[in-house]
Amino acid sequence: MSRILLSVPHLGGREVRHVGAAFASNWVSTVGPQLEEFERAFEARLGLPSLAVASGTAAIHLGLRLLGVGPGDEVLVSDLTFVASVNPIRYLGATPVLVDSDPATWTMSPALLAEALEERARRGRLPRAVVVVHLYGQCADLEPILAACARHDVPVLEDAAEALGASYRGRPAGTLGDVGAFSFNGNKIITCSGGGMLVARGERVAKARHWATQAREARAEYRRRPRTASPPAGCPASSWTKTRSGRAATTSSPRSRPPTSRRDPCGSRCTSSRSTPDARRSAAP
Ligand SMILES: Cc1ncc(COP(=O)(O)O)c(C=O)c1O
Repeated sequence: MSRILLSVPHLGGREVRHVGAAFASNWVSTVGPQLEEFERAFEARLGLPSLAVASGTAAIHLGLRLLGVGPGDEVLVSDLTFVASVNPIRYLGATPVLVDSDPATWTMSPALLAEALEERARRGRLPRAVVVVHLYGQCADLEPILAACARHDVPVLEDAAEALGASYRGRPAGTLGDVGAFSFNGNKIITCSGGGMLVARGERVAKARHWATQAREARAEYRRRPRTASPPAGCPASSWTKTRSGRAATTSSPRSRPPTSRRDPCGSRCTSSRSTPDARRSAAP
């Protein structure tokens, strides 16, 4: 009997060049020009501000926090899913309540969700949020789900970890609710080995970006000097100023070397517009 594999990464050769470029430019961190390009491409495709994070789980975690989930809250969540749809609810001290599936879609039953919401409304204790999962690229029946949630003013997080590229009535999965979360784990539709993306409207992504980048304040000590004498990828040579000695910072001893910037290797020496999104991330003065 032949096996149908869930999803196998396809590596075509370009990936290793991109990894090499990351090493060569010293952008091997959680930010950098490649990551910004990825976010921009995602944003262009889905039409919503996008934040790349370490995993789909992290995207769900930040997304729930954006929706105000906290200790003592209830969150209704699809029951047929990977455990990562549920774990972040517990990370925030809230209680997951599993909602059973519709046999037609294997995803959250709109009727059972509506019933659960009605019952909680009668008790005067609505859940803080609903996590609806799109399973194996199959979208949940979002229209009645969103309508039920809207009736009770309960926000919806779409766990679209498995549904990049799927659409519901012509709209991309992950963009119909209040927040969407995607995964780039090794068994997902596209992979970075690990990784995730959070999408949302308005200021939410900026807020999550602040949290995801250590919630740093705009203070001078967060401005670091680069390790390389050459401009990082994406930083035009014309806007790059060498150190006075002209030597690369990497030639100094590890002890005396200033810590490498994880956010801003261009630092104050780069005057290009490339440093603008970086500055936005680090909020450096
Ligand atoms: C439905 C679902 N939600 C969340 C996740 C979590 O994503 P990650 O493994 O990137 O944390 C996965 C997959 O791993 C998933 O299949």
